[in-house]
Order: sequence, then C-alpha cells, then structure tokens
Amino acid sequence: MKIILLFTLFLAIGLCFLILSMHMAGFFDLDAIIKRARCVPPPCHGEEITLDRWIKPPTNVTHNMTDEELFWRASLLPQVDKYPYERVPKVAFMFLTRGPLPLSPLWDSFFRGHQGKYSIYVHALPNYRPDFPSTSAFYGRQIPSQVAEWGKMSMCDAERRLLANALLDMANERFVLLSESCIPLYNFSVIYDYLIHSRHSFVGSFDDPGRDGRGRYNPNMVPQVHITQWRKGAQWFEVDRKLAVFLVQDTKYYPKFKEFCKPACYVDEHYFPTMLNIELPQRIANRSVTWVDWSRGGSHPATFGRDDITAAFLKRTVEAKNCVYNDQSTSICFLFARKFAPSALEPLLQFAPILLGFDHYKSNSQT
Ligand SMILES: *[C@@H]1O[C@H](CO)[C@@H](O)[C@H](O)[C@H]1NC(C)=O
Ligand SMILES: *[C@@H]1O[C@H](CO)[C@@H](O)[C@H](O)[C@H]1NC(C)=O
Ligand SMILES: *[C@@H]1O[C@H](CO)[C@@H](O)[C@H](O)[C@H]1NC(C)=O
Ligand SMILES: *[C@@H]1O[C@H](CO)[C@@H](O)[C@H](O)[C@H]1NC(C)=O
Repeated sequence: MKIILLFTLFLAIGLCFLILSMHMAGFFDLDAIIKRARCVPPPCHGEEITLDRWIKPPTNVTHNMTDEELFWRASLLPQVDKYPYERVPKVAFMFLTRGPLPLSPLWDSFFRGHQGKYSIYVHALPNYRPDFPSTSAFYGRQIPSQVAEWGKMSMCDAERRLLANALLDMANERFVLLSESCIPLYNFSVIYDYLIHSRHSFVGSFDDPGRDGRGRYNPNMVPQVHITQWRKGAQWFEVDRKLAVFLVQDTKYYPKFKEFCKPACYVDEHYFPTMLNIELPQRIANRSVTWVDWSRGGSHPATFGRDDITAAFLKRTVEAKNCVYNDQSTSICFLFARKFAPSALEPLLQFAPILLGFDHYKSNSQT
C-alpha cells in the first residue's frame, strides 16, 4: 500500500514537471488554458480590455502590415498630454544599414545595464538574415524592410518605416537615426539625459545658396515649397515623438519631393530639413548631433579605420566646442560620430572603457 502511494506521488510530481516544462518550452500557454478553463461557457465575453493592452510594446518587431497600414497605425496620437501611468521614456536607436553591423559589439557594451531605457530597430536589405547571438541587444530587432537607395525617395521611405515601427512602442520618446558606421561618443547615461531633456529635436537645417543647396531646388515645388524655404541638412537626424509622428503622416510634401527631387537632388538631405523648417521651425535645433569629417574634401566624408583610432583622435571628435542646448551654451555638440570602418572595432573596444566612461578621458585631455 505504501509503495503504491509513494509511486502515485512520484507520478503526480513527474506529471507536474512535464506540464510546467512544456509550458516553459512554449508548447502551450498555461495562462491561456487556465483563463479558458475559468471562462465557463456560455456566456463568455472575450478578452478583458486593460490599459496594458494599449501601452505594452509589441514583443516581436516582425509584422505583416504594409507601409500604408503601418503609417496609419503609427500616426495615432494621444490627445491627453499626461500619461495615466508611470512612463519611463525610451530612446529608439534606429539603424539604417544594408546588412551587417560590424560595430555592434561596441554598441552592445554601450547598451549593457540600461534595459528599459532604449529600444533598437534595424532596417536592412529585405533578404538579409542577421545572426546576432541572443545575448546581443540587436537580436530579433530587424523590422520588415525594403530596398533603400542612396539619394532616392526609397531612402526616406526606409527612414519613415523605422520611425513608424518605433512609434508602435508608446514608451519611445526620442528617435535617433544611425548607420552601421556610427559610434557613440559618450556613455549611455550622458546621451540619454541629453536627448530626453532637450526641448529641441536635432535636425540639421540650413540655407545653402550654392550649387549643392538652392541649386538643387526645382521651381515645380511651388506652392508647397518656395526657394527661400528650401533647406539642406545631414540625413542623420534625431527627433522627438511629436516630430516623428509628423514625419510619418506627411502627405503634403511627399509627392513634390518624390517627383521633383531626384539625383543630383539628394532627397534625404532636403525632405525632412525643408518640411520641418516650414512647419515646425521652433522645434528643431538646426544642427545634427552626429559628428562627421568633411575636411578631406570630395563628395564623401572621411572613413576612419584601425590606424586612425588614437586617444588624440577621439579627443578631437568630442573636444569642447560651442553649441546651444535648451537656449544655453554647452560644450557638448555631438553624441555620435561617423564614419568608422569595421577595422576600427578592435581599437574602439580598447578605448571603450575610457570612451564610454568618458570621465577619465576628460581628465586626460586637461593634462
Ligand atoms: C496579414 O495577416 C493576416 C492574418 O494572417 C491577413 O488576414 C492579412 O491579409 C495579412 N495582411 C497582409 C498585408 O498581408
Ligand atoms: C518573431 O516572429 C517571427 C514570425 O512570426 C518569427 O519567425 C521570429 O522568430 C520571432 N522573433 C522572435 C525574436 O521571437
Ligand atoms: C532654427 O531655425 C529656425 C528657422 O530659421 C528658427 O525659427 C529656430 O528658432 C531655430 N532653432 C533654434 C533652436 O534656434
Ligand atoms: C557617464 O559619464 C559621466 C560623465 O563623464 C559620468 O559622470 C558618469 O558617472 C558615467 N556613468 C557611468 C554609468 O559610467
């Protein structure tokens, strides 16, 4: 009798384990089964509607929405300013790349320890299959993508697709566009605070009277855009949530730029800077937070590789400059830098404790 009792007990424990491990392994959703079992038929009025349903970010960034469907969904905007729950604002890091992200190990150490304050989105060529380890911040963050060509409207489409996907997460408050050749210049806390507390979005926008500025303007853009409103700025922008929605919902300027700004008019350098200059000039800082070196001349900025990465070089990129931040002067102008070749990774990782700690770096520069 005792043996049978013991045997039954073991069997019961074993069964429990089996069910639990199957649940863990994702064979079935135990919670759903319990919920369904509790919901005795009939009547059963479907799923409970809770606040969570509207504020929880999608757990998986893949979806089958078309751009039209996605942009519509992304443009839904709360009309009540105050969030009725404790909202920790996040920075959305949006990587626009053809495929691999060779500098991802540097970014991974940048993000480490800051879960809940950032989210990552990667737009690559549609058939590109990334192979990030599940420990990487980039794992499973590739959004449904399409081919994007430099200087063409498909590039702006990709940028808007990134914004729209990031807007699906209600916690995302700032949206920064980066490429596979970008690096951070400060640690996460410094960059996070700088962006979250800024009253302006960092979009470069200036009036260039020359051939590569006003020279690219097409008079057919009237009445939406007059030549005096035409602006130029680097593609690598940073915007807040309101501007992100504004860029995604645009149907007024889009057709004009698509038709009348084709190479040698590089639409990614004009569409957002011009549109924001016309509609929301007070909300942009008219400068980018991404450092780039044009000093070597030519039509492409300098790319830095293994031999370029020295303490002196890094000092030069973050060196005290004079910029305006929230209407006050600051020495921090740039938060990110480009362009860095894959060969730069190794020396950059060596400098990372200094670079991403920055403190030590600053005291170095004073001696
Ligand atoms: C997305 O998937 C749903 C359900 O599987 C289907 O009804 C819908 O037509 C799909 N949409 C697109 C654009 O493929
Ligand atoms: C997201 O969903 C897709 C399709 O349903 C699936 O193939 C993919 O593995 C999922 N990704 C993650 C990180 O769960
Ligand atoms: C950016 O430029 C616009 C138009 O020239 C101006 O109205 C706006 O105040 C500028 N932004 C800042 C932060 O100075
Ligand atoms: C980030 O850098 C700032 C400025 O140098 C420093 O005060 C802070 O302690 C650093 N934070 C971390 C987590 O390293």
